[in-house]
Amino acid sequence: MRLVLLGSPGVGKGTQAKFISEKFHVPHISTGDILRAAVEAGSPLGQQVKRIMDEGSLVSDDLMIQLMKERLQQPDCINGFLLDGFPRTIDQAKHLERILHQNHTPLDFVIQITVPEEEIIKRLSGRRIHPASGRVYHIAYNPPQERDLDDVTKEPLIQRPDDQEGTIRKRLAVYREQTKPLINYYSSNDLVTFETLSKHPVYYEIDGNRPVEKVNENLNAILGEETIRPNKH
Ligand code: AP5
Repeated sequence: MRLVLLGSPGVGKGTQAKFISEKFHVPHISTGDILRAAVEAGSPLGQQVKRIMDEGSLVSDDLMIQLMKERLQQPDCINGFLLDGFPRTIDQAKHLERILHQNHTPLDFVIQITVPEEEIIKRLSGRRIHPASGRVYHIAYNPPQERDLDDVTKEPLIQRPDDQEGTIRKRLAVYREQTKPLINYYSSNDLVTFETLSKHPVYYEIDGNRPVEKVNENLNAILGEETIRPNKH
């Protein structure tokens, strides 16, 4: 199964990706997690992207495309993958198609999760994460068993630097301008079409403004039932 989860910051992509990745045995590839790990490690990539991420802007397409090209060649992607946070621009989406075309691995699903912006601000300002594992919590909606500690390792949870209200609003504006056009791109079949890429991904939109389990049920229903999808051409 090859899947892209789309949606603005805070709709629950990371939360749902963890469940899907476990249930369907595909790697959860979060570009945000990859970049944060690079920042944490102080690598040249991390030094290059830290300021951009902290201010809520997007890292350059060239850098992201190169990064994904390498990641998708890793052996764990052979039976599929779940992309969370990529593509984020039309240019990234077009390059993704080229990469997948070259690998003969077209996408199966693109699923857009939607949540109203005011709810997103509540979600992101209350979010806490466990940096080492990427586990995600919320102080009210999904609190850890012990305050500010990861359930599994009992290590401290942190607040992401870009989860301050001003930066959240900036990220939402960046989303509206640069990422939202992907909805039309995927839902209208406005894809670059390659002769040999015989199928388009099935596009779904789901309501993310419901409890985590309900959103998860919806995703499982889509992914469980639609293992083979119709060719739209
Ligand atoms: P990234 O890490 O991808 O951030 P994002 O897209 O802004 O997404 P988030 O992680 O904020 O939200 P989410 O949808 O995963 O929500 P979550 O499940 O955590 O990117 C960070 C930065 O990296 C970007 O700003 C950019 O600079 C750079 N970057 C990354 N990819 C890039 C790319 N391709 N190109 C260029 N730059 C790139 O949930 C949020 C909160 O809500 C949590 O607290 C959770 O517990 C809670 N919650 C989840 N679901 C529910 C629910 N159903 N009900 C109630 N609460 C819920």
